[in-house]
Amino acid sequence: MAARERGLPATFPSAGLPERVTIWEVGARDGLQNEQAVVDVDVKIEFLDRLADAGLRTIEATSFVHPKWVPQLADAERLLAGLTPRDGVSYPVLVPNQRGLDRALDAGVRHIAVFASATESFANRNLNSGLDEQFAMFEPVVSRARAEGIDVRGYISMCWGDPWEGAVDPAQVARVGARLSEMGCSQLSLGDTIGVATPGHVERLIAEVLGAGAALDEVAVHFHDTYGQALANTLTALRAGVTCVDSSAGGLGGCPYAESATGNLATEDLVWMLDGLGIEHGVDLDALAVTSVWLAERLGRPAPSRVVRALAG
Ligand code: HMG
Ligand code: MG
Repeated sequence: MAARERGLPATFPSAGLPERVTIWEVGARDGLQNEQAVVDVDVKIEFLDRLADAGLRTIEATSFVHPKWVPQLADAERLLAGLTPRDGVSYPVLVPNQRGLDRALDAGVRHIAVFASATESFANRNLNSGLDEQFAMFEPVVSRARAEGIDVRGYISMCWGDPWEGAVDPAQVARVGARLSEMGCSQLSLGDTIGVATPGHVERLIAEVLGAGAALDEVAVHFHDTYGQALANTLTALRAGVTCVDSSAGGLGGCPYAESATGNLATEDLVWMLDGLGIEHGVDLDALAVTSVWLAERLGRPAPSRVVRALAG
């Protein structure tokens, strides 16, 4: 941890950025869902505990999807049963349908996310559904969850591009977002599933989503780093006023139903930039990097994060 011992990065604030950012940690869900070898549930529980110890307060834990579709997360019930609840820490889970909600409610979940697609092709592949059909699947999930006092995030995938359809019209993404908000989703997470966004496109899409009625504090960004643009795109979103950023410890991640999806924006890379800008986030970078090195040893390969590699070197 040499660079940190010297007090780096130096802090130089920059105008037009938020004072505080909420990090929505997705390592245990998006990070692990793509791993071929099933990770032991006790390792996952320790990973979640270490993330909370490092100061993360919103930690996506798992998915209540069909176990055949994502075998890595088939242990969702066992995972939640083994997790010790902590004051001030939320453990959202992904839920696609009523069956998933039944399972999540039985497991005592208090925060869920539905996950929509901005394109027909990805709705077919990821949800076995059509673009319009997906809303019929989510509607009863969101209304039942809301009736139980459960907060619901709405993910939108393929917001900046889709491997089968190419560029995605920002107006189409905004329409999907408006449908999710009308349904009762309290937040929209704009997903760059395959990592093709660039900063001007990010600016344009956020403007379009806000123009369709979303408030700034209802918008989060979710960048995968396939083309090395995730941090530049995040900074652009922060300049546009977004204050919730999804990232994954160590930079793990991907989507089993979009082969070109690679790792998420690494939480450590995000934290390094936020520290340099003097933006509050509540995360202990050293403890987090140690956790990512620990997990990488269990997965049998180094963490993709540049910051983790630099600190561990
Ligand atoms: P389906 O096969 O069409 O389901 O899958 P179905 O409704 O026809 O049901 C078939 C059988 O599955 C039934 O059982 C159901 O009970 C059962 P049977 O009567 O035949 O015995 N079933 C379930 N069992 C357990 N849990 C459930 C469940 N649902 C049905 N929840 C489904 C439709 C949506 C379930 C499937 O397509 C699925 O699970 N998809 C999830 C794919 C996924 O998890 N992808 C990754 C997450 S999204 C992502 O990574 C992107 C994101 O990070 C943002 C970004 O980067 O853009 C969020
Ligand atoms: Mg993702």
